[in-house]
Amino acid sequence: MHFELTEEHTMIRDAARDFARTELLPGVIERDNGQVFPAEAVRKMGKLGFLGMMTSPEFGGGGMDTLSYVLAMEEISKIDASASVIMSVNNSLVCWGLEKFGNQAQKEKYLKPLASGEIIGAFCLSEPEAGSDATSQHTTAVDMGDHYLLNGTKNWITNGGTASVYLVMAQTDVAKGHRGINCLIVEKGQEGFMVGKKEDKLGIRGSDTHSLMFTDVKVPKKNRIGDDGFGFKFAMKTLSGGRIGIAAQALGIASGALEFAAKYATVRIAFGKTIGQHQAIAFKLADMATKIEAARLLVLKAAWLKDQGQNFDTESAMAKLFASEVAMEATIEAVQIHGGYGFVKEYHVERLMRDAKITQIYEGTSEIQRIVISRAILDEYASM
Ligand code: CAA
Repeated sequence: MHFELTEEHTMIRDAARDFARTELLPGVIERDNGQVFPAEAVRKMGKLGFLGMMTSPEFGGGGMDTLSYVLAMEEISKIDASASVIMSVNNSLVCWGLEKFGNQAQKEKYLKPLASGEIIGAFCLSEPEAGSDATSQHTTAVDMGDHYLLNGTKNWITNGGTASVYLVMAQTDVAKGHRGINCLIVEKGQEGFMVGKKEDKLGIRGSDTHSLMFTDVKVPKKNRIGDDGFGFKFAMKTLSGGRIGIAAQALGIASGALEFAAKYATVRIAFGKTIGQHQAIAFKLADMATKIEAARLLVLKAAWLKDQGQNFDTESAMAKLFASEVAMEATIEAVQIHGGYGFVKEYHVERLMRDAKITQIYEGTSEIQRIVISRAILDEYASM
């Protein structure tokens, strides 16, 4: 076991760090205030290969490993978690899912422009009445022979307004329960497909979150991913990888907060010395750094398992659970260390605190991660 990054990994991390500081930091407060999608930055991210990092070069991607991806996610999330969720959904949920489970024609048509960043995609599972309880899909895809007729509503869809391609989970055969769910590739502009209202969110306000409405949308059968009824497993397998990306996002938010807080602690004077020289603040920084390092190890381990082709479902859930809780805790502490300055926008930490909250909710709440982890433990011990 060794803990050193290779030269290539270090270069990828540094490139992402530079990009975040030069392209994302300017204007991040204004974009957060105005809920402005970082269109120009996303275009540049595509050109630099950040939108299809793990996709093979044959389909327009960077052919990198998951480790590279989490290193880049951490750096980008330190500065702009809105940009990193756009990146995460496109990389882990859309491109990875398509490459792993799509057929050649689907990869040629959809994956290539998605992985090269010409367009972005969205992953559509959540519904008004099916968030955590994802098997209860109300959106229907009725089999009409050569096509499906898609009807229903999806909620809280990241990239909802800006995506060109949507992976939509829908119930084809209610009697089969989750084994009757399919994943269909839907294109923006198809008749009957409407992008609904943009959500006014607490955090990640630069990302574009919408509800989507489907009314008798004709989706060709060739746009189904995998065999009939594979949709729920597709969603679960894809989300397992997605959780590594969100764990890396949470890690970035936490380590960004620590960086802001530590810098501030070296310059802010109170009672005749820098606040970092007061144990009350120094101990907070020590706790933040220790928990962040523990989260980093969990994130890297989950990424490594995925790269080794081993099962990573439990470890990705652990990484997301722990890193998102550390993100919340570390950002609250960063605000506290900044005192009154932490409560105003120009010091960045209040935004990181608001952004941290969603990492405990999307791609499965903390409670869902605990379900995944506890079931794995109980299964293991039941079989002993
Ligand atoms: N890989 C493969 N198959 C899996 C799987 C996995 N990781 N997890 C579950 N399955 C399979 C099970 O084996 C089972 O199949 P069989 O019956 O054939 O054995 C089937 O899926 C159903 O599994 P469960 O019985 O465990 O189902 P459940 O109803 O108890 O729920 C759950 C499981 C883990 C709670 C699941 O519903 C879940 O993950 N919910 C959270 C959904 C979620 O993360 N939503 C996020 C929305 S996407 C998003 O946020 C994106 C964004 O825009 C940022």
